[in-house]
Amino acid sequence: MDSMIYVNGEWQKEAVAYVSINDLGFLYGDSLFETIRSINGRLFKPQIHFDRLENGFKKLRYENTPDYDTFLSLLNDFIMRNDFQNGMIRFIVTRGLGTMEAPWSYVGKTNIYIKGRPLPKLPDFPAHINFVNEEDYPVARFNPAIKSGNYLANMLAKKDADAINSFEPIFYNKSKYITEGALRNIFFIRGNMLFTPALSLGVLPGVIRNLVLKLAPMCNLLQMETIIRYEDIDGMDEAFITSTGIGILPVTWDGFESDSIKTYELMKLLDKEFYPTEEAIRFDNS
Ligand SMILES: Cc1ncc(COP(=O)(O)O)c(C=O)c1O
Repeated sequence: MDSMIYVNGEWQKEAVAYVSINDLGFLYGDSLFETIRSINGRLFKPQIHFDRLENGFKKLRYENTPDYDTFLSLLNDFIMRNDFQNGMIRFIVTRGLGTMEAPWSYVGKTNIYIKGRPLPKLPDFPAHINFVNEEDYPVARFNPAIKSGNYLANMLAKKDADAINSFEPIFYNKSKYITEGALRNIFFIRGNMLFTPALSLGVLPGVIRNLVLKLAPMCNLLQMETIIRYEDIDGMDEAFITSTGIGILPVTWDGFESDSIKTYELMKLLDKEFYPTEEAIRFDNS
């Protein structure tokens, strides 16, 4: 890899870039991040990503944080330096350089890192998912949720899902309410109702989740952010997961089958949001 990445004020070759041992993001997972999509060199919904990041700054009491103009200009600089047309750009902010002594009381400048990666490779549709108990994979859930760099439970659940050929593990909490995937939000359709777990459960307010809720009426779907019980999911007609990287992906699980008809309609609408100027639509269900 010889792409240029941003390391706290400097542009460096990825192969030689490093993070300080005293970065509190490294020492204590004290960091926040956003993964923003570049589509033909254009950032997709940067303001919504920044707003979510800013909520995290407030929640974690970060000081001296980047403002929206800095966020935008660094991301655009990244795109320019790497001619980064289509892919995912990770913008990481850590609390900064602390020491091992009283790191919780550190007040100073936050550190910023930016790196890119290709879009995730999509599996055949529908993707296979599995369901896991949050008591086995304790996710740190702030309410409202923040996108902190602490993904220990999410990564462990992903690793175990990989081992059983599941594309995404979906968590349920101790009340057996569905929450979200390790890396994606989840939706269900029954009749003309579109259901997704409520934000009050501590699920991430995903950029695509938000967009899908807005697009639902165009597919004659009434949307509901609510409680979805694990025992009720087999009675659903369709299900899909969402994220900035995958967009909308129809899913299935052991014992569940679906024609995903409404999901494909939503996918076409989302594609128009991703590629507003292109006539060709990637997902053609005909
Ligand atoms: C835990 C979790 N939920 C949901 C999402 C989807 O969010 P978005 O649509 O903003 O990519 C992500 C993606 O980063 C995530 O990590």
